[in-house]
Order: sequence, then structure tokens, then C-alpha cells
Amino acid sequence: MIELANIHKSFGPKHVLQGIDLTVEKGESLVVIGGSGSGKSVMMKSIIGLLRPEQGSIRINGVETIGISARQRDKVNRQFGMLFQHGALLDSLPVWQNVAFAVRQQKNISTAQARAIAQESLSLVGLGAKLLDLYPADLSGGMHKCVGLARAIAAKPPILFFDEPTTGLDPVMTDIINHLIRDCVRELGATTLTITHDMSSARIMADKVAFLYQGKIIWVGTEKEMTNSDDPFLHQFVNGLADGPIATEGVIEEERERGRQEERAEGRGKERAEEQNGAP
Ligand SMILES: Nc1ncnc2c1ncn2[C@@H]1O[C@H](COP(=O)(O)OP(=O)(O)OP(=O)(O)O)[C@@H](O)[C@H]1O
Ligand SMILES: [Mg+2]
Repeated sequence: MIELANIHKSFGPKHVLQGIDLTVEKGESLVVIGGSGSGKSVMMKSIIGLLRPEQGSIRINGVETIGISARQRDKVNRQFGMLFQHGALLDSLPVWQNVAFAVRQQKNISTAQARAIAQESLSLVGLGAKLLDLYPADLSGGMHKCVGLARAIAAKPPILFFDEPTTGLDPVMTDIINHLIRDCVRELGATTLTITHDMSSARIMADKVAFLYQGKIIWVGTEKEMTNSDDPFLHQFVNGLADGPIATEGVIEEERERGRQEERAEGRGKERAEEQNGAP
């Protein structure tokens, strides 16, 4: 179980996380959605201890993790499997060593055992043994993600984190990865936190969805509740609409305002033309 309470994280004057409250129940797959730059990755990095929030509490299975020692952190993180936003495979190591990396760090196992674990993990994500000796540079973007997924689940961790698992993939590969993750998660019975701005991922993977906006979780519910929600912020995001209450930064905001002015001018022009033509 993962529990975040009142998490705050700033970078200089930029207050990115402004009091995050979020709970992922044991065995649940929770997907956090939110716009680019809203702080999703910062939240995940705070949970795994790569960033330290200034305020708040992060409990993993009831144990507070903010401010723990490096040794304790190491122990906590052994429960985690992670797929990072940018893949993060080690280019200098072949696929099998990448996949077995965490397992080898945690357990004293032979090379043959590590290779066997890598092979088993690859087969769970639908990849064959012939990939074992390839290097990350030899892989397509989709394969790279699949190998990253195989690595995340290799140690069969009870808690999984996925940061944008489908970014940069084509629609078919996206669908394959979404289903693979869902099936792996179910197979392992893992507590899973996924962050994404891809609605198809959210729909396929989520038992529950949480919406991060302006540094806070402003909505939590099931996928069905999300689709039917009349929350104007969520509705705009889920349906990918340009118009709505969601604030966008700088240039984009100006561009939208220009569009609105043009629409208004067009509307006024039409009204005038209708008046001149004697239409109602
Ligand atoms: N180490 C850092 N130093 C300074 N600012 C940072 C740092 N990490 C993140 N930020 C800022 O925090 C904000 C949130 O970043 P984050 O990467 O969490 O966004 P995100 O929601 O994951 O976006 P995306 O969907 O594009 O991945 C951004 O404005 C980013 O520039
Ligand atoms: Mg991110």
C-alpha cells in the first residue's frame, strides 16, 4: 500500500507539488493522469526517493519513507519495480544483463540463473530468447519499452511504477504495451502506480484513476466514473479539448485568446450580415 499525504515539492520559486494526497491500495492498479509539466514524474521520483519533498508523508506498507537513511531506502526500494519515462536501459550491457540487473543486485545468483530469470521475464512480455544477447542500441523503441518492462518485473516485486510507459510508441505498439502491462500486473498481483497523459493507457490499466492538476490530486474515481464525470477540468483533459478551464502556459494561452477573439469577431460579423439581410 502506498500513501501520500500533503506532499509539497518546489524547485526554487516553482511550487510543483502543492499538497498531494493519494492512496494506492494493496493489489490495486492506480493511474495518475495530468498535463505535461504538471508534476507527475516529480511525484513518482519523490516516492522512490530520488527527490526529497519539503513537506508531507509517504508511507509504503505503513512505513514512513521521507527522511530515511540510504540503507533503509535501499531496503524499501527492493520492493519496487520501475519502468522509467525514458527507458533507462544501460547501453553498455546486453539485454539479459539489463533485465536481470536488479535481481543480481539483490540476490547472490549465478550467471546461468540470472540469464534464466532474464529469459523468463522476457517471455512474460512476449519476447523470445534470441533478444538476450542484443544491446539496447539494436532495439526499436517498442522493443526497448518491452525490455524495460521485463526488467521492472524480473524480481517479481510487490510494487510496480510505470512512468509514461507508452510515450513515443505507435498506436499498435501502445495498445500491445498497455495490455502487456495490465496482464503482467494481474499475473503478479502487484500494487501498481502508473503515470501517463495517454488516455488509452489509463482506460486499459486502471482500477482507479487520479487526476493531477496544478500540484494537487483534484479527482479520483474509476475509469467509468471518469468517462461519465461532469467535472469540467477532468472532462476537458479526458476528451483532449482545447477549450475549457485548464490553464495552459504563456504562448499557448495567448494563442487560445487570439482564437477566441477571432471567433467573437466572426460571430459579430455574421450577426451584422444577418441584420443587413433582414434575418432574425
Ligand atoms: N530537477 C528539477 N529541477 C528543476 N525543475 C524541475 C526538476 N524536475 C522537474 N522540474 C519541473 O517540475 C515541473 C514538473 O515536471 P515533471 O517532470 O514532473 O512533469 P510531468 O507531469 O512528468 O510532465 P510530462 O508529462 O511532460 O512528463 C516542470 O515544470 C519541470 O520543469
Ligand atoms: Mg513526466
